[in-house]
Amino acid sequence: MSFLIEPTTQYKEQIIAAVQEFQGEGRLLDYDVQQLHRNFANYLRRMQNQKDRRRISPDTVPTTDFWLIDGNEVIGRLSLRHELNDFLLKIAGHIGYVIRPSRRCQGYGKEILRLGLEQARAIGLTRVLVTCDENNIGSKKVIESNGGCFENAVVVNGSSVKKLRYWIDVVK
Ligand SMILES: CC(C)(COP(=O)(O)OP(=O)(O)OC[C@H]1O[C@@H](n2cnc3c(N)ncnc32)[C@H](O)[C@@H]1OP(=O)(O)O)[C@@H](O)C(=O)NCCC(=O)NCCS
Repeated sequence: MSFLIEPTTQYKEQIIAAVQEFQGEGRLLDYDVQQLHRNFANYLRRMQNQKDRRRISPDTVPTTDFWLIDGNEVIGRLSLRHELNDFLLKIAGHIGYVIRPSRRCQGYGKEILRLGLEQARAIGLTRVLVTCDENNIGSKKVIESNGGCFENAVVVNGSSVKKLRYWIDVVK
């Protein structure tokens, strides 16, 4: 059974292994693998700080990062933005997720969003905005299978690919 957890030292090696796999396809490049090895506590501190409005810059919103775990393996990462600013409302939404390349097309995409919606409800959100590129068929299916209600497709500055915007009701 898979579950979401905020990063902890218990999963240090598995998180680093997943980050390295993501970086192999050009994702999560903001993670410094050497630093994670040397000072994982610093990463844990940053993850705590990014949830706290007093410790983030005015142009960002409080955010919780989770890792999807199955067995003892890190499968994917989900970011939950606690609120929307102009950019998030138009383009990125409340929730972003990524499944490690070796674990795609096994149902984990649908599962990570399902679990992320539970976390959204737990912090008091009632409606969650989730978006994806119009050509991202996998993500489109993930959102629609989780009850995504299509609102519109918007043009993204500097891109020929539109963003599809969906709302998901998370009230019980
Ligand atoms: C999008 C992503 C999260 C999907 O994760 P996943 O674990 O492969 O998703 P699932 O296994 O739950 O598959 C969901 C559906 O999408 C389909 N699918 C997945 N990847 C696909 C692809 N590349 N092309 C076409 N269909 C795809 C699956 O077959 C499944 O279809 P079904 O409902 O008919 O059975 C994953 O491909 C990923 O991490 N991509 C890179 C990051 C990304 O795009 N994140 C989303 C940003 S909005």
